[in-house]
Amino acid sequence: MKDIIKVELKTQTVDFSKCKTDILAMGLFSDTKELDKLNKELNKKLDGAIDRLMKLGDFKAKDGTNAVIYGNNKIGAKRILLVGLGEKKKATLDTVRNAAANAAKTSVELKAKTMSLALHRAFGRQFDLSTMGQAFGEGVYFGSYRYDEFITENENGRLGSLKVMLTDLDSTKLKKLKKGLSTGIAIGKAQSYARTLANRPANVVTPAKIAAAAKELARSSQRLSCTVFDEKQMAAKGMGGVLAVGSGSKNKPRFIVLKYSPPGKTANTLPTIALVGKAITFDSGGISIKPSANMDEMKLDKSGGIAVLGAMKALAELAPSVNVFGIVPSAENMPSGTSYRPGDIINTFSGKTVEVQNTDAEGRMILCDAISYAVKQKCDIIIDIATLTGACVVALGKYMAGLMGNDDALIKDLKKVAEASGEKVWPMPSGEEYAKEMKSKIADLKNIGSRWGGACTAAAFLKQFAGDTKWAHLDIAGVWNFEKATEFTSEGASAFGVRLLTAYVVGIKSKKK
Ligand code: BES
Ligand code: ZN
Ligand code: ZN
Repeated sequence: MKDIIKVELKTQTVDFSKCKTDILAMGLFSDTKELDKLNKELNKKLDGAIDRLMKLGDFKAKDGTNAVIYGNNKIGAKRILLVGLGEKKKATLDTVRNAAANAAKTSVELKAKTMSLALHRAFGRQFDLSTMGQAFGEGVYFGSYRYDEFITENENGRLGSLKVMLTDLDSTKLKKLKKGLSTGIAIGKAQSYARTLANRPANVVTPAKIAAAAKELARSSQRLSCTVFDEKQMAAKGMGGVLAVGSGSKNKPRFIVLKYSPPGKTANTLPTIALVGKAITFDSGGISIKPSANMDEMKLDKSGGIAVLGAMKALAELAPSVNVFGIVPSAENMPSGTSYRPGDIINTFSGKTVEVQNTDAEGRMILCDAISYAVKQKCDIIIDIATLTGACVVALGKYMAGLMGNDDALIKDLKKVAEASGEKVWPMPSGEEYAKEMKSKIADLKNIGSRWGGACTAAAFLKQFAGDTKWAHLDIAGVWNFEKATEFTSEGASAFGVRLLTAYVVGIKSKKK
């Protein structure tokens, strides 16, 4: 798949004031009284322009803001971009990532060909250089991304590529930054890839297209292999959940399995992680049809599955020492004469029967088969990611994903990784009380609970299929998109989960060492 905007990111050993670039991005905290050494130096060369700007109060260096100062013949840069970092004591890794994103987004808007990043200077020793390098990599891709592949009229004109240089005069510093930077680039590219796939509408991306994308990933990496089951193969295996949901659409369902094998010959001594993602290419609700307002958004109901593809793409590059399955059940949920109906009883892959009470609770119907499949593959840890419930959006809003599971240590690990990745999660319950609501009178389970706690009952349903395997569930219904562009990125699919899942799996490697 071609990048929408080609972004190149490298390091460059150069004196800041001599650095020839369209935009030189510098960071500034809102609560530091004096300019730091570097900004002071630039200020001097710019005849006090930074001072004048600050004195007028036009720029207060608040988080998410920036200001452009135009260069002169004493410096190499055409523009200096002052990026606001907010209060110094409040800075997190997200501040670093967002600052890079803000600079990259502004560079695309200003149609800059080149941008030099010197943001690390403001942070001093607050963060480790390699960690910052990773955040810069992720941030640059995150911020420069936009989805305009179907716009044919060029009033929205922009350049097709952006060259970014991470800049410092000190080459040992750059070396440390570069270490993390390459990880950040792999993750950032994978996230942009996932955002494009997620943003594509349902007439373009069908379950078969998602399968083709997975095969393509496997073709481009020696460490990935891909198996796809079509309807017939799913029927032979008894994957009644995926088949039921897919039965109403002309676009037939697929069950996609990507396998990542680590380098070396120690694979069978290493743990196996399953990343399971819901990929409903369009969720009309089926026979329990949704209201028409905003139904177009339901093209994003494949976001969990696509986040898994994105994470697998990044992992193939980062080559951690762990086995990973990417399991993506994919279907289109449509109403028709062949659809599954409320009242139907479905035989799932696990052997458990499920009474369908609402065809719009389709995510759990496809995930249950995928989770059982992961259990059968003897995976040590299963993490599923899904745009599963509107109830989760009601509970947490658009800032965090719901996190449930059956293993406290796994939940704790994921929470920690989430903080560093800037893809935030919040723990929610899924215990006995909720599981009870999912019992059916005429089958083993039913697919909806009572009116309340919908995110928790959905998770409690999935839990039944994990059995004794360590399992965690991410409900990303609220965080699947940005409704409007932010200071840090454009609107549309967020590909939430690519950073979190990749960082989690890579972290397992370091724990083993
Ligand atoms: N894909 C939706 C969940 C969703 C809702 C995602 C809003 C993003 C934004 C899911 O398949 C669904 O329809 N869930 C139902 C479950 C209900 C029928 C128990 C819901 O949340 O209303
Ligand atoms: Zn639904
Ligand atoms: Zn859905």
